[in-house]
Amino acid sequence: MPVTIRPESPEDFPAIHDLVRRAFEHAEHADGDEQHLVDRLRRSREYIPELSLVAEEDGRIVGHVMFSRVKVGEAAALALAPLAVLPSHHGRGIGGALVRRGHELARALGWEFVILLGHAGYYPRFGYRPASSFGIVSPFEAPEEAFMAVKLGGDADRLPGMVAYSPAFFPEHAG
Ligand SMILES: CC(C)(COP(=O)(O)OP(=O)(O)OC[C@H]1O[C@@H](n2cnc3c(N)ncnc32)[C@H](O)[C@@H]1OP(=O)(O)O)[C@@H](O)C(=O)NCCC(=O)NCCS
Repeated sequence: MPVTIRPESPEDFPAIHDLVRRAFEHAEHADGDEQHLVDRLRRSREYIPELSLVAEEDGRIVGHVMFSRVKVGEAAALALAPLAVLPSHHGRGIGGALVRRGHELARALGWEFVILLGHAGYYPRFGYRPASSFGIVSPFEAPEEAFMAVKLGGDADRLPGMVAYSPAFFPEHAG
């Protein structure tokens, strides 16, 4: 069955919540909050509906990714978080398809940089490299190799500044 990548819609929200919970259930570095992070990001000002994508196969949602707004210094950028694929569907390129489609759409919308905190063995295949090489600084302690960024376009080769995440990333402060 072919996998379709499309923006999420409100009817998908319960299935996405369940998918993200299941994807992170046994994942390394997961804190069990990822499905709630998705819900909080949707309620935040940093949510971008057209950059919140699902992978659908045979009418079933098997993957999901969110790109939302962050500030890097005074500049606007995107944060990729979270990315989730149903465990039974790992290793079929679905995660990669979500990331690549997200990049294409983001580039078309004029976004120039994406940051993330993630697996150092996974994201470099999509062009990510340590965010520090762009001058981007994490607001909290993060392993150098896990805090990554990619440039999608634009003239600037660097984006010096500290990241200001959406309050949605901090459940104790988010509504
Ligand atoms: C990470 C995840 C999204 C990848 O989805 P996927 O659809 O299986 O990914 P793809 O099929 O596009 O890519 C598979 C490749 O990624 C590699 N990969 C998957 N997870 C990896 C990890 N944690 N570290 C390094 N490589 C990883 C696989 O070994 C495979 O490598 P290969 O192409 O050399 O065979 C999925 O494993 C997942 O949902 N994990 C649980 C949630 C999670 O950790 N999300 C990411 C948070 S940073």
